[in-house]
Amino acid sequence: MSHEPVLLKESIDFLVTEKKGIYFDGTAGFGGHSQEILSRLNEKGKLIATDKDQSAFEYCRDKFADDKRFSIYHTGFTNIDSISRIEFIDQFDGIFADLGVSSFQLDTVEAGFTFREDAVLDLRMNKAEGISASDLLNKFSQEEIAKILFEYGEEKNSRLIAKKIIEFRLTENFSRTSQLKKIIEQVTPVRFLNKSLSRVFQALRIFVNNELEELKTFLDKSFSLLKPGGRIVILSYHSLEDRIVKEKIKYESLSCICPQGMPICICGKKQRLKLITRKPIVPEDIEIERNRRARSAKMRVAERV
Ligand SMILES: C[S@@+](CC[C@H](N)C(=O)[O-])C[C@H]1O[C@@H](n2cnc3c(N)ncnc32)[C@H](O)[C@@H]1O
Repeated sequence: MSHEPVLLKESIDFLVTEKKGIYFDGTAGFGGHSQEILSRLNEKGKLIATDKDQSAFEYCRDKFADDKRFSIYHTGFTNIDSISRIEFIDQFDGIFADLGVSSFQLDTVEAGFTFREDAVLDLRMNKAEGISASDLLNKFSQEEIAKILFEYGEEKNSRLIAKKIIEFRLTENFSRTSQLKKIIEQVTPVRFLNKSLSRVFQALRIFVNNELEELKTFLDKSFSLLKPGGRIVILSYHSLEDRIVKEKIKYESLSCICPQGMPICICGKKQRLKLITRKPIVPEDIEIERNRRARSAKMRVAERV
């Protein structure tokens, strides 16, 4: 199993400020960032992790089985509040998420996230919740499908692809990635094909995993669960994700939202965060050369006041 962690040193340098602190890694994956967090903590420190994906959960559970400071739950990071109650934790010293899917998920045919080889068309990280990508394509209307491809994948050909999907459905049901791939091949010039395939598969993945709504919920809960001085560090790979992180952090770092020109403040808003990075931090060229996945990464950091 392999996944090369992105901005590893930089992210954990920002995150871990207290050796005996309690930390949360919402996206354990293959434990790259978790391992780095643990290496910075002393024997009193603690790391609570989650991952929605069964194989990532099992891999990290086994990898850190001998480390009493580590616990992992097979669930979404939006459950950070219930998990903190189960663990008797009031507040965290730092909260981390490295969004999206791992290289292992993308490169492994059985995980069903790649379009490079034929696989079951599912795209859910947790196969027990939500609807699969094939169910979506078999049941949603042409307009709904086009909207998903356009909004979450910024796919310019979204309407035409959606039309072809509906035509295909008249004679066959979607169940395999190769069926969708063939439709995209029919309507896309060869030189744009890989980009279009990535955009369409990504759009469906974001939708079936409810990724943007879950990110919003996770951020709102996390801000309340951070200790004063505690930091939140988020790595994102998609412009829509980065926009959510940027806007939520910006809103929480304001102390007043009254309309301009008000003589006194009446909004009652309290500043909860301080920006640690004004601009997102991106990987250096040398990291991108080594690890292609790093090319779209953006990291934002804020601190609870
Ligand atoms: C980019 S990988 C994380 C890699 C990890 N930082 C490492 O170094 O190995 C993202 C992981 O987050 C998981 N994931 C994505 N969204 C999630 C969510 N809402 N809740 C929990 N896990 C999630 C995926 O299953 C995947 O394993």
